[in-house]
Amino acid sequence: MNLQACLSVIALLIPLSTQAQTPVAHGGDVTVTMPGLVSEQATEDESAEIEIMFRRFETLSRVVERLPDGIRTVTLTTDPEVEAALVSHVAGMVGRVTTGEDPKIPIQSPTLDILFLRGSGIDSVVEPVAGGVAVTQTSADPEVVQALHRHADEVTDLVERGMVAVHERIGTHNH
Ligand code: HEM
Repeated sequence: MNLQACLSVIALLIPLSTQAQTPVAHGGDVTVTMPGLVSEQATEDESAEIEIMFRRFETLSRVVERLPDGIRTVTLTTDPEVEAALVSHVAGMVGRVTTGEDPKIPIQSPTLDILFLRGSGIDSVVEPVAGGVAVTQTSADPEVVQALHRHADEVTDLVERGMVAVHERIGTHNH
């Protein structure tokens, strides 16, 4: 990425620190205040759910089990609004992976590319649990298994550090 493109990505991320408004998903009146989460291919609800999770990432916790053929994760939150966003996000995004409908959200991880390309070969089970969601995903394709492992680690990084993890990934991968 050249310097100009890099600066425009950073500009997309700036509103996180300059705006305090919290989006409301699932209620009709959705306001997404982080432009880096907006895409023509994603609904406002989808972007708002991700924004809520970023803004309140400190309420989230997570355990990841690496299986030889995939992952099993349990992600929890202490905040009921975050829980609703999390459950909806996971169900919706896993559904998108299965059908190959990439939302092309500007800040999304490149690890997702192969998952969207080969998603029809992933077996996914999403189970709401008290306070969050459990996900099991398996595949017979070793490259997909590698991507599932990597993506699970990336989600853990988001849960632990929020948008700082995104800033760091974009900086690290493009300079
Ligand atoms: C704080 C921010 C976020 C949190 C807490 C979060 C959480 C999760 C969780 C728990 C899963 C289920 C898979 C797993 O447990 O490893 C998941 C899947 C997914 N997330 Fe997020 N996510 C976040 C941000 C994003 C962003 C910015 C995108 C951009 C598009 C995104 C796209 C996806 C996709 C496509 C999947 C499905 C992956 C698959 O089926 O293999 N997530 N997310």
